[in-house]
Amino acid sequence: MTHINYPARFPTARPRRLRQAEWTRRLVREHTLCAADLIWALVVHDGAAPRVPVPSMPGVSRLNVEEAAKAAETAQRLGIPALAIFPHIDAAKKDNDGREATNPRGLVPQAVSAMKAAAPGVGLMVDVALDPFTDHGHDGVLREGVIVNDESVARLVDQALVLADAGADIVAPSDMMDGRIGAIRNALEAAGKHDVLIMSYAAKYASAFYGPYRDAIGSAKALQGDKKTYQMDSANTDEALRECALDVAEGADMLMVKPGLAYLDIVRRVKETFALPTYAFQVSGEYAMIKAAAANGWIDEERAILETLTAFKRAGCDGVITYFAPQAAALLAP
Ligand code: PBG
Repeated sequence: MTHINYPARFPTARPRRLRQAEWTRRLVREHTLCAADLIWALVVHDGAAPRVPVPSMPGVSRLNVEEAAKAAETAQRLGIPALAIFPHIDAAKKDNDGREATNPRGLVPQAVSAMKAAAPGVGLMVDVALDPFTDHGHDGVLREGVIVNDESVARLVDQALVLADAGADIVAPSDMMDGRIGAIRNALEAAGKHDVLIMSYAAKYASAFYGPYRDAIGSAKALQGDKKTYQMDSANTDEALRECALDVAEGADMLMVKPGLAYLDIVRRVKETFALPTYAFQVSGEYAMIKAAAANGWIDEERAILETLTAFKRAGCDGVITYFAPQAAALLAP
């Protein structure tokens, strides 16, 4: 913590002197947001339609593989360093064990290879979790009402390997099973995939703010019960540090806190404790709230986007996963 020895008292000190004009404000600005801070969260689908709007996320559409490749080109043009891919698959392909998650010719592997071909310089991050592929909407394997940890981890390892084989640069386990980072890291090393990065959803909370996402990937109706036996209780802080410590020891390269704005205290503690590249996910509900309020004329959308994204930087984030990435990058363009 910086110690503030205030140099003087009023009227010798007048903090407003530094705020008197745009040039002074720019000169003393402590945090800057730029396109390089953004990871674009993108939803892909396996249907034929190029774009299917997601009603609860105005401005977001599920893209087919061809459109996803175009989005990767857009990211490249806007200077967005990486994209995070989330799949919506046909309900007929979902089952109890999420078998489609490990199909090497599945939607995500297809999207990854098309996007890599279109924009080789853009990093591709993929979610490791079973929920888009299970008929019960949970991130792991369900056996007699219980999400079984170790069997789920084995499935997640297979999924991570399939995605790494397809060309994913960052695998991002969002499932919150115990021991998955170590298992995935070991499997990647054994497969010779030394350079595949792991961004762990290390401190992921059971949250009301995921609602629109479950709508976007089509797991909202399917989800049985809640995710409280694996995602964290929103009242906890120390537990987030223990989760991060385990993931760091198991081989995570980057840490994520999720959701975003309601958890900036966690971001700050994680950054100060581990000094690793740290990210937050401005999740679907956060996106939807800004869009809904702006649509009603209650807040200024563009200012709210930039203000919230800057808040992540101030809290200690090295970057933010956000559905606003292309819009924000365009706003930030010189
Ligand atoms: C699940 C997953 C979720 C999100 C990303 N991966 C939701 C959940 O845990 O149910 C949320 C993303 C968002 O809300 O934008 N593996």
